[in-house]
Amino acid sequence: MISIETDEYRFATKNKDFYLDVIQSLKETPKRLSSKYFYDKKGDGLFEAIMMSPDYYLTRCEMEIFTCQAKQIVERITGQNSDFELIELGPGNCAKSIHLLSALVNANVSFNYVPIDISENVISELQSFLPENAPDLQFNGLVGDYFDALAHHCLLPGARKVVMCLGGNIGNMTIAEANRFCKALRSYLQPGDQCIIGFDLVKHPAIIKQAYDDRDGLTREFNLNLLARINRELDADFKIDQFDHYCSYDPLTGSAKSYLVSLSEMSVNISGVSIPFEKDECIWTEISQKYSRDQIHQIAADNGFIHVVEFVDSKSWFMDALWTVV
Ligand SMILES: C[S@@+](CC[C@H](N)C(=O)[O-])C[C@H]1O[C@@H](n2cnc3c(N)ncnc32)[C@H](O)[C@@H]1O
Repeated sequence: MISIETDEYRFATKNKDFYLDVIQSLKETPKRLSSKYFYDKKGDGLFEAIMMSPDYYLTRCEMEIFTCQAKQIVERITGQNSDFELIELGPGNCAKSIHLLSALVNANVSFNYVPIDISENVISELQSFLPENAPDLQFNGLVGDYFDALAHHCLLPGARKVVMCLGGNIGNMTIAEANRFCKALRSYLQPGDQCIIGFDLVKHPAIIKQAYDDRDGLTREFNLNLLARINRELDADFKIDQFDHYCSYDPLTGSAKSYLVSLSEMSVNISGVSIPFEKDECIWTEISQKYSRDQIHQIAADNGFIHVVEFVDSKSWFMDALWTVV
């Protein structure tokens, strides 16, 4: 149990949750930090750079799907009753979804777009990016954790919903977490509502490993920025040069995992709480789960969805699955 009496006065509410989560996760064995905290202004910029990296194939594959197959996706989601709310969970810079948004606007489809992201910076950048790139788009962005934001969002009464969760978002969950996520998502939806979920497909392990250990060290910088963010926002004293980035991929489980490795025995102070580190101790910071087609069908079936159609890139490396709520 963590006492936050004094710290309650130190941090605004949003940082209090961040603080409590960080302390709790670093007191666990093995130590953990949630990947959702990667995304501050610096982290958002680094992730954009990763998306352009020749080694990070995920964005290129999904971009191909959204540029080449936007028309087919529009046909599948508009149906007969074209009024709907298009909710995107964790849109980042919308680099891929903007192609679908533009295609919908150009087809004169009546819909409202609701991007939900935990990064305030992401939503604030979209406030200028969306009007510039899709001038007639109706949208209202929400800052928050996926389901906190969904719970507080006044969904348009009676409007059909289409929920998108693209790129690495569901991949950043373990398979058990992905199942819980899909079950929770289902509880906000009605029969006939739809989801478009991005899944990275299993492929040669070397290609996957390289994506999280890119030649320019961007993933390394992205991973280490998490400690720098904790220093900046939670009054901590991590010595960043005393930590290293390490990643692994296990083809048997389909899990790519990133860690921060402590290079010496040390103690880190986070707002008065001391966290000891052994030399070579790891903090697990990210999972990037890869899926087979059968696993994707199973997740849909187990959580109240029908797997209707799949949009796949020309290399069959990435899938955007379209599911309908049963
Ligand atoms: C890996 S990036 C992917 C962005 C985008 N979906 C894409 O494919 O390019 C993850 C995005 O989801 C957001 N995010 C991560 N965890 C979240 C959570 N629990 N609730 C809301 N947003 C979250 C991050 O801020 C970031 O913008």
